[in-house]
Amino acid sequence: MSTEAGSIYIKNILAENDFPSNFEEWEARAKEKMKPEVFGHIRSGAGGEETLRSNRESFSNWSIVPRVLNDVSSVDTSIELLGRRYEQPFLLAPIGMQRLADEEGDLASARAAAKFNVPFITSTVASYPLEEVAEASGDNPRWYQLYWSNESSISFSMIKRAEEAGYEAIVVTVDTVMMGWREEDVRNRFSPLRAGVGKANYVNDPAFMASLPDQEDDSIIEGILKNVHHPSFTWKEIEKIKAATNLPVLLKGILHPDDANLAIEAGIDGIIVSNHGGRQLDGAISSFDALPLIAEVVQKRVPVILDSGIRRGPDAVKALLQGADAVLLGRPYIYGLVVGGQQGAEKVLEQFIEETRVSLALAGITRIQDTHTAKLVRSGGGR
Ligand SMILES: Cc1cc2nc3c(=O)[nH]c(=O)nc-3n(C[C@H](O)[C@H](O)[C@H](O)COP(=O)(O)O)c2cc1C
Repeated sequence: MSTEAGSIYIKNILAENDFPSNFEEWEARAKEKMKPEVFGHIRSGAGGEETLRSNRESFSNWSIVPRVLNDVSSVDTSIELLGRRYEQPFLLAPIGMQRLADEEGDLASARAAAKFNVPFITSTVASYPLEEVAEASGDNPRWYQLYWSNESSISFSMIKRAEEAGYEAIVVTVDTVMMGWREEDVRNRFSPLRAGVGKANYVNDPAFMASLPDQEDDSIIEGILKNVHHPSFTWKEIEKIKAATNLPVLLKGILHPDDANLAIEAGIDGIIVSNHGGRQLDGAISSFDALPLIAEVVQKRVPVILDSGIRRGPDAVKALLQGADAVLLGRPYIYGLVVGGQQGAEKVLEQFIEETRVSLALAGITRIQDTHTAKLVRSGGGR
């Protein structure tokens, strides 16, 4: 090998390595790039962060018992969800106010998701209107996450806009009737909603704008805060949402098996087991611990999706083994966005896809529907 070729080779390796290769490194690089209060807002959980921590610990409390000699030369990672086939067993979680992470924010994430045919769930408090996110998604499937508004006409108007923009499901977040007690934001006196980073879907909504006393910026922000805080939200409103749309409706933030049962009784089309990444009720059960209880009552009647704490491929495999039909990626892709914009988010997805595929193969699983061939056991338990 000539010296010149050698140096080119070395340079390529360095270029490849320019991006981090695991969650902790992505997070550390993101921290370097961000103002402390912005990084703190994204990283942190509610209260003393007990739930944030247990979201990770509960994965470590379980171990995969792999199968061997099972010809894993080809691994099919695809899943079927709400009548559609997806190449990968994960979706991108709704994360609001993505301009905190990158100027192109939600648009960059939607494009990154489209590159891998991974559905993107856009938030009510996105930094770009749902119509622009739809355009950035091209023909990639997208779902719309709804924060209920006290002024119900705003919610129904947003659902209608989502239908018109080609969204394929409505994800109603039910664990955020008020904001969790987020010590980091309290300490930093940081409220991105007040700063207006999450107003795009509201200022583009005729029902919202008509509900305001005037069209001034202050009234817009006050109007958003008044509607986002909706403590009187109940199953009655869920029934109305179901009646208002033909799209499948999923509930995000279910942790109690009885609520899973009520959701099914209400005709809900899917359940997202989530504690909002530990950002709402501190001390709440980790999503991974809640999963088997919910999978047991649901009995495959509707899809069960899990988020909160998924950081690596084996976490996804454990969730699938424990009864999830798919998982949502949250903070990892946001850190990708911070570090490298759309390209950074793509790199995170690529690494996650590859690691999940390798992990399935090494567990001896060649198709997601065959996950039961391997086993999951409590760690450190006996011989
Ligand atoms: C900065 C940030 C903003 C979020 N915004 C929303 C949102 O607008 N709507 C929503 O339903 N969930 C929101 N979530 C929760 C995520 O959808 C998801 O449940 C959580 O990030 C999963 O946990 P993980 O980040 O530990 O994987 C947000 C989470 C973070 C970290």
